[in-house]
Amino acid sequence: MDFKQLISHCKEYGFIYQSSEIYDGLSAVYDYGPYGVELKNNIKEYWWKSMVNMHENIVGIDAAIFMHPKTWKASGHVDAFNDPLIDNKDSKKRYRADQLIEGYAEKIEIKIRKDVAKARKRFGDAFDENQFRTTNPRIVDRQNKIDAILKRLADAMRDENMGDLKAQIEEYDIACPESGSRNWTEVRQFNLMFSTQLGNIAGEEGKLYLRPETAQGIFVNFLNVQKSTRQKIPFGIAQIGKAFRNEIVARQFIFRMREFEQMEMQFFIRPGVEMKWYEYWKETRLNWHKALGTPESKLRYHDHDNLAHYANAAVDIEFEFPFGFRELEGIHSRTDFDLGSHSELSGKKMTYFDPELNESYVPYVVETSIGCDRMFLAQVSNALQEETVPDADGKESTRIVMKLHPSLAPVKVAVLPLLKNKEELTTAARDVYSTLKKHFNCQYDEKDAIGRRYRRQDAIGTPYCVTIDFDTLEDGTVTIRDRDTLQQKRVAIDALVGEIDVTLPL
Ligand code: GAP
Repeated sequence: MDFKQLISHCKEYGFIYQSSEIYDGLSAVYDYGPYGVELKNNIKEYWWKSMVNMHENIVGIDAAIFMHPKTWKASGHVDAFNDPLIDNKDSKKRYRADQLIEGYAEKIEIKIRKDVAKARKRFGDAFDENQFRTTNPRIVDRQNKIDAILKRLADAMRDENMGDLKAQIEEYDIACPESGSRNWTEVRQFNLMFSTQLGNIAGEEGKLYLRPETAQGIFVNFLNVQKSTRQKIPFGIAQIGKAFRNEIVARQFIFRMREFEQMEMQFFIRPGVEMKWYEYWKETRLNWHKALGTPESKLRYHDHDNLAHYANAAVDIEFEFPFGFRELEGIHSRTDFDLGSHSELSGKKMTYFDPELNESYVPYVVETSIGCDRMFLAQVSNALQEETVPDADGKESTRIVMKLHPSLAPVKVAVLPLLKNKEELTTAARDVYSTLKKHFNCQYDEKDAIGRRYRRQDAIGTPYCVTIDFDTLEDGTVTIRDRDTLQQKRVAIDALVGEIDVTLPL
């Protein structure tokens, strides 16, 4: 299923709508519909339970979105949370200079992929892609070109060399994707924080930011939480909440949004042991993804080439989205940068007295940070598929099915009377529904033929369908259908709850 189909499926089935669609939408802002909000809540529950409830030494908080403006000075966001912006003078469209250059490199990569596909067709089973990529002169030449482009880009980004970014755009003869024009402005830094104004204080003093990451709400509460919970280092503080970034180019549906949700955990440790914990969280977080059944081939680590101002090690867990491997989650060793700078700017000592060492220090931090919306997109794009299955008459038919892990599925069980106009069936079905809804998120559906109702549930990922038929009235049994195997078996109504396995993979 391609990306466009995925987006329209999400809309048609009530997962995700464009924000304010009746006014032609607000770019890069999305609303979650009735099934979307259930899936999103289940993702958050899986994260919260694994991180907070399963760890004695991790506690949760829910900090406010608004924070004292000095927070963002201390964190470095006022000075360094920038993207390089370029405008096209003819089309008046804005772009991220680095993305234009990356797009140029990607075009070369597409040419390589076309050549690889052609060669695979020609050589059949004997084709060795790795050998082809490393020995075919044209491919090697193109790959070297890509490497050189990306290296120069990384250097310019690290050195904040806006002049060289502009020079690259000119040298590669990059045109505005919208108009084809090459009439560019200079490249300049653009701060990604949204700001707003307090009503009772005029001017700069009253300027507030919408938080661009949830992490700072954790750092500024480090002393409060440590004192009130008497946690000993190593311990973590977790939080789920909204974050806001004024992304210059918002593309790829909910992958890059201006308002999104993060699930972050800061793990406070002794200075000097950060690499041990960094490795621990790298592995733990990858296992969290794999436990949902996400194929290993769709997940990979990507070490950061350029470290952020606060980090001494950083890695992304990338997922293969429909548009390629991209960042899903980050694990960052943030040293004592944040606590240190809050301490400096606020004048409050952000130290911890370690009773075992009998000394005080500013703790180091290893952070895990994942976007809830990106996790949503990863799960939906992995789960949504079109497949051929036998229908009720034994013929082949296609179905669209969302093979989500059952614990994440928005609806766990659909209760379906075989026929709508037989009161004894609908009454029995409503009784089953009333019992099951105390245990699971259920749906009662009596409209349309049973086959169509199954397909509707497949499309939203419901793992179980329970059908009430005439045998139910005789012997108190129902059929339960498995979404993935399509197997149906008869089960006594009393045993139904035990048959439905939607437990989280904790
Ligand atoms: N506290 C560290 C931090 O915020 P980040 O790599 O900038 O690090 C962490 O963001 C995660 O937040 C990313 O891995 C991604 O999943 C998500 N994220 C970041 N920007 C986003 C955006 N504009 N839209 C959706 N998700 C985003």
